[in-house]
Amino acid sequence: MRAMKIGAAALLALGLGTGVAAASEAVHIEKQEWSFNGAFGTFDRASLQRGYQVYKEVCASCHSMKYLSFRNLADLGFSEAEVKALAAQYEYPALDESGEATTRKGLPADRFHSPFANELAARASNGGALPPDLSLIAKARVGGPDYLYALLTGYHETPAGFTLNAGMNYNAAFPGHQIAMAKPLNDDQVTYADGTKATVAQMAHDVSTFLMWTAEPKLEERKRAGVKVMGFLAILTVFSFLTYLRVRKKVQGH
Ligand code: HEC
Repeated sequence: MRAMKIGAAALLALGLGTGVAAASEAVHIEKQEWSFNGAFGTFDRASLQRGYQVYKEVCASCHSMKYLSFRNLADLGFSEAEVKALAAQYEYPALDESGEATTRKGLPADRFHSPFANELAARASNGGALPPDLSLIAKARVGGPDYLYALLTGYHETPAGFTLNAGMNYNAAFPGHQIAMAKPLNDDQVTYADGTKATVAQMAHDVSTFLMWTAEPKLEERKRAGVKVMGFLAILTVFSFLTYLRVRKKVQGH
């Protein structure tokens, strides 16, 4: 046993350890501070609105969001008129009175507009890779919003000795470190209406918050219900204990 340990240590020292180090680096996703963390967590509405802006102006040219309707945006704090105006920016296929194909403006009840007609078209525009639908992505990836943040801020210079395949980009957070998506965010890519500085880190934080909301819009209700249940159980525990004391007193005949 001891000899084996020494042998293993020697092998590591000989440089076989570098592979192990690279592999553990691949899975390390740093945890971020999120307003929605913890039992009392809520979504930061300003961050959600900024995140929607990043999705709309940057990610929506490649990624669909097909489980979301414009009217869902009311949850982000947009007024009815604003939701209507946002929907009306897109064109949807329709039929005119004589049954001819035409287009109409989007309505609040419409699903988000998809950038490509179908999967083949999406792949053809992205060098064969498919940009996944982002509606549920925060729940579909280990690490959730922490992973999304790490991915969006993980575009670094390709390390020496790393072979990148044609058309791929180095990313520290993506499994295997090669991703077909080119770095989507650069400083000042969007101009935030509330004056927040649009650094890559800020945009990554905001769009990850937005993607957490799209994946779990009822998170706040769930947490509030959880807190209520815990409160109820705490009160129940106190009353059960008081009852126990009374019963014990009676039994002991005092
Ligand atoms: C020019 C097109 C393009 C843009 C713009 C773009 N993406 Fe992507 N994205 C892709 C492609 C292609 C893939 C698939 C990559 C692969 O499988 O290698 C992808 C994959 C992803 C993934 C999945 C990674 C995984 O773990 O599988 C996420 C999350 C993502 N993109 C988020 C975003 C966000 C957020 C934005 C906006 C800030 C964005 N993308 C902008 C093309 C794009």
